[in-house]
Amino acid sequence: ASTLGAQAATSGRYFGTAVAAGRLGDSTYVSILDREFNAITPENEMKWDATEPSRNSFSFGSADQIVSHAQSHGQRMRGHTLVWHNQLPSWVSSINDANTLRSVMDNHITQVMSHFKGKIYAWDVVNEAFADGSTQHRSSVFQNVLGNGFIEEAFRTARNADPSAKLCYNDYNIEDWNAAKTQGVYSMVRDFKSRGVPIDCVGFQSHFGTGGPPSTFQTTLSNFAALGVDVQLTELDIAQASSTNYSNTVRACMNVSRCTGITVWGIRDSDSWRSSENPLLFSSNGSKKSAYDAVLSALGGG
Ligand code: G3I
Repeated sequence: ASTLGAQAATSGRYFGTAVAAGRLGDSTYVSILDREFNAITPENEMKWDATEPSRNSFSFGSADQIVSHAQSHGQRMRGHTLVWHNQLPSWVSSINDANTLRSVMDNHITQVMSHFKGKIYAWDVVNEAFADGSTQHRSSVFQNVLGNGFIEEAFRTARNADPSAKLCYNDYNIEDWNAAKTQGVYSMVRDFKSRGVPIDCVGFQSHFGTGGPPSTFQTTLSNFAALGVDVQLTELDIAQASSTNYSNTVRACMNVSRCTGITVWGIRDSDSWRSSENPLLFSSNGSKKSAYDAVLSALGGG
């Protein structure tokens, strides 16, 4: 096939991108989106500050815009994200009573997942809960007020809210098998699987520097998959976007049968949160970069 999404589909995978609702009026952006990608992650529109800016008052306007675009163009949706310490309104981060915070967190998960029920392929239920350079959870209002059990609580609540959505844990800097953070997340997933805590997938954000993916990346993906979860590359971008780095990254996923899809974190370099590093597959004028061809061929196409 001659597009990323169609080629990924030949092996049962998806190829997606982050989308910003504010760009859906840009015709160059939308034409690339609908030609190349068969999955979408909202870049900011499903985060807590956007969906529940004040307690029990929900707003889904810009997220709904993205979901309806995806539905009318046959694109799967990844939901991003329910429980995260960033883009969290201050009314949540200032709660210091555990019973209150537990009910606020559970209500948020339940209301947001119910609103989108049946329309989301996979949810990033908990995002970035582990500390860099450590096997332990990071400090956050959830960790500090609810303790280690908050992740399990979030996943159990999520399963009840939409039993047909896949439930993912998503994080960055967990691509290198030798990193302490990777080991911390691996232990959590192994523990969840052994105790029947519902978890279906792990998202590896894959924000890489000019060195590209760690040499152990495929090992990491296959070790997690062996625990009985799907693995996905959820926010891929690579500083300077070398063809070799992109190709090696995509091949790591292609070599692991439970690596079910890849999402890049934006379409054109000018759409990226790190645009000065030119990390994406399309240049700012919308043309394909050499990394695009490398990805298409690593997916088996071209
Ligand atoms: O919404 C306000 C808008 O009202 C205001 O006019 C504008 C002016 O600066 O700012 C807007 O908010 C910005 C928001 O993006 C929407 O554009 C924030 O300042 C900005 O910080 C925010 O950045 C996002 C970042 O997450 C915040 O944490 C990036 O777009 C988004 O790409 C990035 O995505 C994260 C993933 O969710 C999780 N993993 C890491 C990844 C990269 O940081």
